[in-house]
Amino acid sequence: MLKINNLHVNIENKEVLKGVNLEIPHNEVHSLFGPNGSGKSVLISTIMGYPEYEITGGEILFNGQNINQLSIDERVKLGIGVSEQRPPTIKGVKLRNLIELLMPGEIQDETFRKGMLERFNMDKFLDRNINDGLSGGETKKSELFLLMLARPEFLILDEPDSGVDPEHLKKIGAMINETLQKKIQGNELCNPYGRNSGLIATHSAVILEYVHTDKAHIMLDGKIHCSGNPAVMMDQIKSNGYSYCINCHQNI
Ligand SMILES: Nc1ncnc2c1ncn2[C@@H]1O[C@H](COP(=O)(O)OP(=O)(O)OP(=O)(O)O)[C@@H](O)[C@H]1O
Ligand SMILES: [Mg+2]
Repeated sequence: MLKINNLHVNIENKEVLKGVNLEIPHNEVHSLFGPNGSGKSVLISTIMGYPEYEITGGEILFNGQNINQLSIDERVKLGIGVSEQRPPTIKGVKLRNLIELLMPGEIQDETFRKGMLERFNMDKFLDRNINDGLSGGETKKSELFLLMLARPEFLILDEPDSGVDPEHLKKIGAMINETLQKKIQGNELCNPYGRNSGLIATHSAVILEYVHTDKAHIMLDGKIHCSGNPAVMMDQIKSNGYSYCINCHQNI
């Protein structure tokens, strides 16, 4: 589904991604671990096509198509959706407006939308400007709510758990699982084919208590250093820290 080959990216003429290789097949969700400044958000922003990130080498393939040159909206139309680490405030655009844009109001969608608003307690934010004055946790919820309605085929979440209290974390976990769940005419598909694909960048991995991922990757200094079982890798990071990874030359 998503395949990244030897991706090099510059920001302001400085190389930040130094040859990233990553493959996420259909029906798989992967975790992306890595210390501060290792390049997780830059990778995510580059997948989305933000223009300040200059691709100097390599390719990003989505369902076999090279998307290096596509604009952000073209990537979104292909089915890639992202919740950023620090989503911007958009004054003059209300949550209600974006929801209407995402869901053009067919009867089935209307029922779905109302159900979702109620289930995730989002009614109170409908007439607020996008992310304006929302707390950290509320902002994450608002972003995920929009993604849940848009149902991207490939979901990218940048630190969905940072700054979120335990109660909100549980709700955010439920929202992520709902967004990942594939449905056909309202019915959930059974596993193992029942999930969309995705990538979740997380420092703390606390979100992984609620959302299962199939594989994890550790990013160090602009490269994927190694990959493996998410729970085992996170246990090792918690015990030994990323400094152990930096000195490990295993490169699996
Ligand atoms: N717009 C930018 N201009 C200049 N440098 C940038 C920009 N965006 C990212 N960087 C630099 O690129 C490097 C990687 O940053 P990135 O945000 O990807 O790290 P990260 O792994 O997501 O860290 P964190 O865990 O803190 O979110 C950092 O050194 C950062 O300062
Ligand atoms: Mg980041």
